[in-house]
Amino acid sequence: MALLEKHAILEKSPTLLLTFSLLVVTVGGIIEIAPLFWLENTIEEVEGVRPYSPLELTGRDIYVREGCYVCHSQMIRPLRDEVERYGHYSLAAESMYDHPFQWGSKRTGPDLARVGGRYSDAWHVDHLIDPQSVVPESVMPKYEFLAETKIEPTYVTDLLNTHRMVGVPYTDEQLEQASADFTAQADPMSDFDGLLERYPGAAVSNFDGQPELTEMDALIAYLQVLGTMVDFSTFTPDPSR
Ligand code: HEC
Repeated sequence: MALLEKHAILEKSPTLLLTFSLLVVTVGGIIEIAPLFWLENTIEEVEGVRPYSPLELTGRDIYVREGCYVCHSQMIRPLRDEVERYGHYSLAAESMYDHPFQWGSKRTGPDLARVGGRYSDAWHVDHLIDPQSVVPESVMPKYEFLAETKIEPTYVTDLLNTHRMVGVPYTDEQLEQASADFTAQADPMSDFDGLLERYPGAAVSNFDGQPELTEMDALIAYLQVLGTMVDFSTFTPDPSR
């Protein structure tokens, strides 16, 4: 009772109430936010998650440039209907090397977080050139120009280095080999052993089926890696998190 009466003093004075509310929010806020500055890592590390290969990272830039995120999310929520449709719910670790993240907030088309390996490269080529040719009712725009736009690894080392600056752990070796890895990934006849050592599980393929290296190759290399890094047949969530 005594405590309630004391509280009445606060409630009767707007200025006092406001001052003390601010104080409480400030203390609460500091307690919540401050540890994040000292914690080494706030994201649970998960085996298999690796930085994108140079070609995948280039494809990711094209994905962002074309605004694919306007219609596609990349975050499967832990709800039954989503998990049944798209697969295991997304883990924070799966987008830890995404700068900026591509979770998205709109699904005009399906979620793409686990689209990697779901379709063949040739399906992606047909679908990106003319979505309506494979899904007649699709409202997705045509991206045929991607197959005509050639790309070169001129700036790919800088691209990797920029991601390193914001925290992606690219090694010196990965930076040195960036140009070579970039071309090797789209050429199954190349010597890609080093590439696979640096980026385990990377798909090596002539993604667009043309001899030239195009934006289509890079975009499909990116789409094919989405959601494939973690082996969910052996993954068990850490219950302490
Ligand atoms: C205007 C909205 C829109 C935009 C922009 C868009 N898409 Fe789509 N996308 C769709 C719709 C709708 C579907 C479902 C029908 C279909 O498969 O075409 C789809 C389907 C897909 C699928 C097949 C997914 C699955 O699981 O079946 C992929 C892959 C895809 N889009 C990739 C892309 C990429 C890459 C871009 C950017 C270059 C892009 N989309 C841009 C609307 C869009």
